[in-house]
Amino acid sequence: MKRDLISITDYSKEEYLKIMDLAAEFEANPNQDLLQGKVVASLFFEPSTRTRLSFETAISRLGARIIGIADPGSSSTSKGETLHDTIKMVSNYADLIVMRHPLEGAARYAAEVSHVPVINAGDGANQHPTQTLLDMYSIVKTQGTLDNLNIFMVGDLKYGRTVHSLLMAMSEFENPIFNFIAPPELQMPKEYKMFLREKGIRFFEHREFTDIISEADIIYMTRVQKERFSDPIEYEQVKNVYILRNAMLEKTKPNVKILHPLPRVNEIHTDVDKNQKAYYFEQARNGVFTREAIISHIMNLK
Ligand code: CP
Repeated sequence: MKRDLISITDYSKEEYLKIMDLAAEFEANPNQDLLQGKVVASLFFEPSTRTRLSFETAISRLGARIIGIADPGSSSTSKGETLHDTIKMVSNYADLIVMRHPLEGAARYAAEVSHVPVINAGDGANQHPTQTLLDMYSIVKTQGTLDNLNIFMVGDLKYGRTVHSLLMAMSEFENPIFNFIAPPELQMPKEYKMFLREKGIRFFEHREFTDIISEADIIYMTRVQKERFSDPIEYEQVKNVYILRNAMLEKTKPNVKILHPLPRVNEIHTDVDKNQKAYYFEQARNGVFTREAIISHIMNLK
């Protein structure tokens, strides 16, 4: 039976840990021709830099060929072809589909239509499970553990799909504490807070974080997701609500790392980039190894 990766909860804690181990193996030895002779379809119906390019790098390093859509305007989607028909076609051509789509639930639907595995590379404001696995790999590399961590999530917690997937995955580990820092318009949706309450996991909500920043092990900054706002005035009101600056990091723990799924707009000042606590560019690099690990796991290559 085929396995898809649509929501981070499709995988167990044991699978998360297996992917962390595989990612470390691929980091040590990235070029492994495990997928030689296979074809992977990379279907991006929404803009991407890191996810698409790191997936395509991972696929190349595994020895497979890539077919794909980087811009829906250049495909028959622009002529009105349905997602159903596109996926039906592509699953006749490729051995694996990696898909990003602006609609929540589109990846699950594609997985139902496709007879080859589908990996969700982000579906609207819903989930971004491969980002979460690379975030977890970045956390374990820098903290040495996924247990007992105080995780600050800052910015657009309403539309930011990466924080939704990350909190679900981290809730599988020992004793996490979440601090959610967002303006009222962009708070963590109720269903995710309910999820944490049901699991008995502590979380706290704040408007500001400068006076509590010294408690953080991970500061996960997010971009305000302009493309998800129906009202541009509402976006203008919140777009610069949090800007992390180097001076704010003076009283942080020695082990703290600043993560961000990127792209960054204004939410991390460039004066943070040279600080040893900034980890977002290394985090993006970890995406290649983690995506090699995910493909290897899903295609049962190791
Ligand atoms: N982190 C992330 O999903 O980046 P892209 O939108 O550039 O793929």
